Amino acid sequence: MINLRIPASPAADDTVAAGQNVKFAARDVNVHYGNKHAIRGIDIDILENEVVAFIGPSGCGKSTFLRCLNRMNDTLDGCKVSGDIRLDGEDIYSPSVDVVHLRARVGMVFQKPNPFPKSIYDNVAYGPRIHGLCASQDELDATVERSLRGAGLWNEVKDRLADPGNGLSGGQQQRLCIARAIAVEPEVILMDEPCSALDPIATGLVEQLIDELRRRYTIVIVTHNMQQAARVSQKTAFFHLGDLAEFGETEAIFTNPRDERTQGYITGRYG
Ligand SMILES: Nc1ncnc2c1ncn2[C@@H]1O[C@H](COP(=O)(O)OP(=O)(O)OP(=O)(O)O)[C@@H](O)[C@H]1O
Ligand SMILES: [Mg+2]
Repeated sequence: MINLRIPASPAADDTVAAGQNVKFAARDVNVHYGNKHAIRGIDIDILENEVVAFIGPSGCGKSTFLRCLNRMNDTLDGCKVSGDIRLDGEDIYSPSVDVVHLRARVGMVFQKPNPFPKSIYDNVAYGPRIHGLCASQDELDATVERSLRGAGLWNEVKDRLADPGNGLSGGQQQRLCIARAIAVEPEVILMDEPCSALDPIATGLVEQLIDELRRRYTIVIVTHNMQQAARVSQKTAFFHLGDLAEFGETEAIFTNPRDERTQGYITGRYG
């Protein structure tokens, strides 16, 4: 891995701790949907093995910016992304980048659990198969088991791996989607409101999992639940009307926000 440090922009200056690698460095990122300027001049550094929460009122651009990080916006007609986004120092929008490979490095978990209409086993084996990551059936079996264990689901499904993935409970399906994401050994996992369709118990399991996954992956999570942001993240980015209004240590954002828009949001004055 390239250990490259991009000079931090003023907005991100105080967010770079000594000794931690910058995983994602975004500079002056703008997104337009046709004439709509959805996000404006975003500068942010996301450090390796850190959980970063994106919070802010509905429509402020959280999902839009998240999708910039693995070029999921490329799939949307009329969506134009500009600016500079580097993953380990490498421009992810360079024409030489293989987008399929990028999305294997930067996996995604969506709001609504979306297992493929396949067995539990095949859901997890899908990525390793298409990327040719396993040389033998034994290796694939081991990868499926490791991923399901990593997602905290193995004990619940080990005796029914051939059953359909969409026959699991909502919380189990979301952990299956996390297992599917980690099966290809990504470096970063993007999660867009991964718990919004889950009950408190399933949410607790996913949150616990996020804390464990942080040891191996960098995680960016969009959430509307501020307690969740406070529980799972080390840094929090507050978006407002397409701007990154404030970014810093989660504790500071929630106890001593510098921006009055952040203050208004976290104290429930709007949003
Ligand atoms: N595919 C799209 N086409 C056109 N406009 C879009 C599209 N996706 C998002 N937008 C617009 O871009 C802005 C940012 O939307 P985005 O979905 O990123 O917000 P969000 O912060 O994720 O909101 P929420 O919390 O409701 O999920 C909004 O004004 C939205 O209407
Ligand atoms: Mg969203």
